[in-house]
Amino acid sequence: MLNYLPYYASGCIVEGFRRGSSELGVPTANYPLEVVKSLPCCFKTGIYYGWANVDNGPVYKMVMSIGWNPFYNNKEKSMETHILHDFDCDLYGSLLKTCIAGFLRPEKNFDSLEDLIHAIQEDKCLAKDLLDADESKRALQDSQFFYGTCKENKNDKDSQPNGGT
Ligand SMILES: Cc1cc2nc3c(=O)[nH]c(=O)nc-3n(C[C@H](O)[C@H](O)[C@H](O)COP(=O)(O)O)c2cc1C
Repeated sequence: MLNYLPYYASGCIVEGFRRGSSELGVPTANYPLEVVKSLPCCFKTGIYYGWANVDNGPVYKMVMSIGWNPFYNNKEKSMETHILHDFDCDLYGSLLKTCIAGFLRPEKNFDSLEDLIHAIQEDKCLAKDLLDADESKRALQDSQFFYGTCKENKNDKDSQPNGGT
């Protein structure tokens, strides 16, 4: 189960619906459709955590939502990354690299926007704790993948540092 983790992805950041920054206070960097479509078919939708960097810069903790956002009932599956760092400009067009280290929970619908925001804040806290507590997950932030030596913008099995297993 979840034997596709850690999973590495990279791609240029595209615009979503901008609800992350405007409604939720949690800006997200969205992958283009081709990156979403290259996920292995067995990849479970849900909320994940791991590491991310932008344009080969510093590596930060991240949480990622993969799926259809049941609260908004999206028509297209998406991979939306919230990086636990304050960037002072928008990131559209920048190269986002992510290493998904672990699974947090399935996507859910909520009765209110406040409940969704609360769940995301809990995800962020849990992700921080899990990444700090687990030596093997902590080590993933040092992967050469983040510094430009691995193939970029490819998500096929060969480009996975662990062979995609
Ligand atoms: C950590 C995290 C958890 C999320 N959990 C859910 C969820 O349980 N249900 C849901 O409908 N959307 C969830 N979302 C997705 C947000 O609704 C989505 O990122 C937001 O609408 C921004 O989308 P946009 O980039 O298209 O504007 C989550 C997003 C993040 C970053």
